[in-house]
Amino acid sequence: MKSLTLAVLALLALPMSTWAGEKATEARIKEVAERGRHVMPFNLEQTTHIFKKVPTGGIQQVIVKDKANTVQIKLIREHLSKIAREFKAGNFSDPVKIHGKNMPGLEKLRNAKSGEYKVTYKELANGAEIDYVSKKPELVTAIHQFFDAQLSDHARHATSGHDMSRHSMHHSMHGMSGASAQTPKADAVDQRLLIQFDEVQRAYFLKDMRTLFSGTQAILGALANEDMQTVAKTARSLGLGMTHDVKSKYHGAIPKAMMHMGMAMHRTFDDIARDAESIRDSKHTLQQLSSTMAQCSACHASYQIQVNQ
Ligand code: HEC
Repeated sequence: MKSLTLAVLALLALPMSTWAGEKATEARIKEVAERGRHVMPFNLEQTTHIFKKVPTGGIQQVIVKDKANTVQIKLIREHLSKIAREFKAGNFSDPVKIHGKNMPGLEKLRNAKSGEYKVTYKELANGAEIDYVSKKPELVTAIHQFFDAQLSDHARHATSGHDMSRHSMHHSMHGMSGASAQTPKADAVDQRLLIQFDEVQRAYFLKDMRTLFSGTQAILGALANEDMQTVAKTARSLGLGMTHDVKSKYHGAIPKAMMHMGMAMHRTFDDIARDAESIRDSKHTLQQLSSTMAQCSACHASYQIQVNQ
């Protein structure tokens, strides 16, 4: 016990650089990884840490690189459920041990009143996640700063989750190829993953995209007129029903993670249709549409089409 206390004290005594200079130096990344080893039980090389900022707060995920790595999955779950409990109680001592006591956003989170932000732990098939939600804009900002600090410090050991969908962790689709892991990148500048389609698949896919775009426009137009019936009808046409022939059209050319993103996005249109009929609140529909469009953007940021010769 005594040696553990000493170890922690020694860690706290390490010099902590500030977050003023955007990108962490290699020395800082190593220092953070070293301190992390004492705080986080899982292996940073065998796992991916994702900090995804969303309009209501953020989603922190830790997932294994190899789905069969049950040892790391167990360690991830143990650690994330523990810190989620601590964060709920306003105790941020673990990240402080790694990132220093001046972590941006921390002060605000610590001083928040009970119930002003919510921390929820969830198990994922390949790891675990913690969801941070607040209705107070300044706490949402604090959560974003807290995420940014960890992203910059962990550098190559973490990502902002642009190329991953949280939905991809929750659902499993059958009969689709799992090409995502090895999908080649376009080039060093354009980091979107390449999806291999033939000419016909590309034409089908982009036509569906244009339907989504014009449908979204039609929903906005109907909302401006408080015409909830048209909202519901249009949204339903963009729902999961639109995906009935996906398998036959694309023959597994769509990687799993992207397929999940697409399905999750279509599902939100069904939700919009249902609520437009039952709740009939245009402001609520606008909020739903906004998060749907965040899903359009997330997928656009992650993938691009390449036509096979
Ligand atoms: C599952 C992933 C995914 C989702 C979700 C998605 N898109 Fe796309 N979209 C793509 C890809 C991939 C392309 C092609 C990009 C490229 O090759 O550069 C594309 C292209 C487009 C285009 C260009 C069409 C053309 O003819 O060139 C539009 C418009 C578009 N998307 C609108 C939307 C809208 C609106 C939504 C949400 C309601 C949406 N997309 C959701 C993946 C997605």
